[in-house]
Amino acid sequence: MLSDIIDLLADPADGSALLGADEFSRLESETGHSYDVAKQGYVTLAAGAGLKHQGDNMDMVNARETYLARGHFAPFVEAVTGSIQDVVEPVADDVAPSILEVGAGTGYYLAHTLDSIAGSRGVGLDISPHAAKHLAKAHPRIGAVVADVWERLPLRDNSVHAISVVFAPRNPAEFRRILAPGGQVVVLTPEVGHLDELREPLGILGVEEGKIDRMYEQASGYLEQAADPVDISFPITLDKESIRDQVGMSPSARHISAAELDERLAALPTTLSVTARARLDRLRAV
Ligand SMILES: C[S@@+](CC[C@H](N)C(=O)[O-])C[C@H]1O[C@@H](n2cnc3c(N)ncnc32)[C@H](O)[C@@H]1O
Repeated sequence: MLSDIIDLLADPADGSALLGADEFSRLESETGHSYDVAKQGYVTLAAGAGLKHQGDNMDMVNARETYLARGHFAPFVEAVTGSIQDVVEPVADDVAPSILEVGAGTGYYLAHTLDSIAGSRGVGLDISPHAAKHLAKAHPRIGAVVADVWERLPLRDNSVHAISVVFAPRNPAEFRRILAPGGQVVVLTPEVGHLDELREPLGILGVEEGKIDRMYEQASGYLEQAADPVDISFPITLDKESIRDQVGMSPSARHISAAELDERLAALPTTLSVTARARLDRLRAV
């Protein structure tokens, strides 16, 4: 709930502290800016004219929810949670570890992490209000925030012990500002070859080369490698419903019509064995 994480949040306009007002139906900053809490429990924290980008739409978020609930990415969620456990391990016993997930989607990863770390609390941030509706329900210790990772993040300086980013965009300068001393960023990035078996038969987009090198280039001057990266690779057997959801939750959803997807799915065998591939990196402030 937002009330559990209010001390971590900041006014996106000027960084001043936010407080709950009118029984948490809105958040108000020390400088007088007011942000309504949606009836579904999330708050949009954007300065000025509001959000400039769009995130996942409702169909994409629903496809992601169904796909992840089937456990197809269980090794990914275990790896991310294990890494965050390591990062917050040194946090003092009387302090609640605070974890921010950026581009948190449905909250599948953050909820699993919070379940595994006693007393922890999480900020689930996503630019998509459709995702935020899921985030607000995903775990009692999640506060759901709609915000753009490319803008000033609505979090206080030195406030979070860990930041997780799973297949989502990053803002190294802002991450460094909001990380508490000793905090780290845990990033899961798809690797070339991820679910490649689907690419040709479905005409979907593959993972571009050099994604991880670019991440380190962008982070230069703000964040540096904190641990050896870990390659994660495992086979998954997908039936046609899961393949439909996988396509529906990916950027390819915007390029393939429902009719085209139906036609391509019809030509596939009942199940397909595919390989998931990603790399887990840990970064700390320079
Ligand atoms: C590929 S999805 C990953 C979702 C989640 N991490 C997962 O793996 O289930 C990328 C997410 O990033 C969000 N997103 C895209 N651009 C964003 C931005 N500029 N700021 C915040 N979130 C963004 C999307 O709405 C989407 O939920």
